[in-house]
Amino acid sequence: MNALYSLVLVFALVLIALFGVGTAHMAGLFGTLLPYVAVAVFLVGFANRIIGWAKSPVPFRIPTTGGQQKSLDFIQHDRFDNPVTPGQTFIRMVLEICCFRSLFRNTKVELRDGRVTYASSKFLWLFSLLFHYSFLLIVIRHMRLFFEPVPACIGFVEMIDGIMQLGVPRLYMSDLLILAGLGFLLSRRLQDPKLRYISLVTDYFPLLLIIGIALSGIYMRYFEHVDIMAIKKLTMGLVTFSPVIPAGVSVVFYIHLFLVCVLLVYFPFSKLMHAGGVFLSPTRNMPNDTRINHHENPWNDPNIKPHSYEAYEDEFREAMIEAGLPVEKKA
Ligand code: HEM
Repeated sequence: MNALYSLVLVFALVLIALFGVGTAHMAGLFGTLLPYVAVAVFLVGFANRIIGWAKSPVPFRIPTTGGQQKSLDFIQHDRFDNPVTPGQTFIRMVLEICCFRSLFRNTKVELRDGRVTYASSKFLWLFSLLFHYSFLLIVIRHMRLFFEPVPACIGFVEMIDGIMQLGVPRLYMSDLLILAGLGFLLSRRLQDPKLRYISLVTDYFPLLLIIGIALSGIYMRYFEHVDIMAIKKLTMGLVTFSPVIPAGVSVVFYIHLFLVCVLLVYFPFSKLMHAGGVFLSPTRNMPNDTRINHHENPWNDPNIKPHSYEAYEDEFREAMIEAGLPVEKKA
């Protein structure tokens, strides 16, 4: 049901842009005003969430660890699963952010011959990587719409992405891979009953929204062959703050752009904020040096003095002996 709601929602968004531009002729609203509002909401919302997290106190070391902590010399220390120095923590973060290392450890529970078994499951890791890297490549390639002249590095990314030289216009591998990634992420939620049970509209909606963006983009490039020069006039108008609505821009472009605007507005308030949050996650970005450094709680009340067991025993020794309690020092 949640998947269906999300699908209806994305369809409704497509219809809003279709009728808004196609029937109500509001290209100005969809092509200039909404993108500005969306970018502003995204930037302010994103910064706000990051500042909120950055200001949250983290008085203790709370890294999640998956390996041996630094201990005695003869016990092998797992440097990247249980980092102890800032350098090791940095490498752990790079591996997490660039390689999704924790997803690589994903396991699945199955009943085999009536017994509960845990098995490695790498598909989530693989398809998540495919999705995220394809998304990144597509965003980098799109930068050609916002730069004049187009930087050489964007041309290089386009060349690599289309290196198979299939078809006219050339097929970008990232277009296929993003659909494969998104298709897997969606179907795993729908197919696995456990996952389906815990999946909400907020899980399906962003997936379906991004699928909508990718499909409308693919339709524009490979099927409708939109007037890219007219679109570039529009996008350059946006970045130079002299917005124009050129003639000949297809309505599918406005649908594509509207879905992107919705994604931008939705982003800071959604689980998609993991993109920024991963950098500030104290379970990941802290070294686990609790056996090396003594951490004092910064919130300790200075008026309350610590009372060691030694001092406690000194204070109550006689009463303890009288009550028959064991003491460390007799007098
Ligand atoms: C979340 C951001 C976006 C995603 C994921 C996305 C995705 C895609 C995809 C998958 C394609 C198919 C062809 C290709 O890969 O180049 C495409 C094409 C296109 N997109 Fe986007 N897009 C995004 C944002 C935008 C924005 C902000 C604009 C313009 C304001 C835009 C304009 C276009 C145009 C004009 C095409 C057709 C390109 C061509 O014919 O070569 N897209 N988009």
